[in-house]
Amino acid sequence: MVSISSRPEPELLREGIKIPVKETLLTPRFYTTDYDAVAKMDISSQQAEMEAVVEELRTDYNRYHYKRDKSFEQSWDHIDPETRAAFIDFLERSCTSEFSGFLLFKELSRQLQGRSPLLAEAFNLMARDEARHAGFLNKAMKDFKLSLDLVNMTKKRSYTFFKPEWVIYSVYLSEKIGYWRYILVHYHLKDHPENQFYPLFKYFESWCQDENRHGDFFKVLLRSQPQLWGTWQAKLWARFFLLTVFATHTLTVFEREDFYQSIGLDAREYNKQVVINTNHTALSAFPEVLDTSHPDFFPRLEKCADYNFQLMAIDKSNLPKFAKNLQKLPLFIAIFWQLLLIYLNGAVDAESQRREVK
Ligand SMILES: [Fe+2]
Ligand SMILES: [Fe+2]
Repeated sequence: MVSISSRPEPELLREGIKIPVKETLLTPRFYTTDYDAVAKMDISSQQAEMEAVVEELRTDYNRYHYKRDKSFEQSWDHIDPETRAAFIDFLERSCTSEFSGFLLFKELSRQLQGRSPLLAEAFNLMARDEARHAGFLNKAMKDFKLSLDLVNMTKKRSYTFFKPEWVIYSVYLSEKIGYWRYILVHYHLKDHPENQFYPLFKYFESWCQDENRHGDFFKVLLRSQPQLWGTWQAKLWARFFLLTVFATHTLTVFEREDFYQSIGLDAREYNKQVVINTNHTALSAFPEVLDTSHPDFFPRLEKCADYNFQLMAIDKSNLPKFAKNLQKLPLFIAIFWQLLLIYLNGAVDAESQRREVK
């Protein structure tokens, strides 16, 4: 497997403010949706479940959790440059994706005000959590003398339009995969405390419960819309979103192998565990999930990561743009082909199992 280990020095917008990494297919995006269509959604078939998840959000279990304790009050200059660069990259990606969640939820809450009060409240409570998460990560970046200008990012970044149905599938998955990502790092560092080089990680156990609650909200919203689970199209969409989220996760985890190494995690094994667990969790919401036990499932995903490294190497070369694009084309086709094969590998029918899995 090819790997890219050296990272460039972070570019600065101004003193202490980092220029956000260039937007690519793999960087976290900012989303907008059809707010009127969400306002018109009839959630009455899941009213009791929705009241229950919103009550959980109101309880605000983590109200006092995101306070920086004394363990942050020290210099981090002893962290070697490679670990530092990989960690800053992890912080930036996580902060951007938490902030993207905040923006979407805040806007949904604003737009639904007075039209769909329960949903408006839920989105407001989830925006509260995501703002805390993004803020906490941005403060961690400041410990490394860098941070993101989040206000500026809201103006500069392009927004991708997603239909409400796509938002529900993809945000459900991103919350649940976020839960597994954080909790698996937490379990690992609990067993190997010697790898905990910075105190952020000890916040993950309660933090990931926020993501879990957000995921539960989206699960109820999804189940309240029969067209999102009761049709053959829904089955195809479910598989599509699972595959997209898992492919993106695999590519980014392999790209950031150095970060996972720095906390003693094997990137390949970590990726597998996150994907298997997220796929299993999705059984309780989606009409179909992928067959992660198929012998070709992970080899094909990992092949895509390999092609991605080759794409990155082409990007770094000094070739003119048209020559780069020409070299990249077969790699894009190869990635598409591998993903198509996974998509067609068959799926697990979740509807028949869903009632037993909670
Ligand atoms: Fe979050
Ligand atoms: Fe979340």
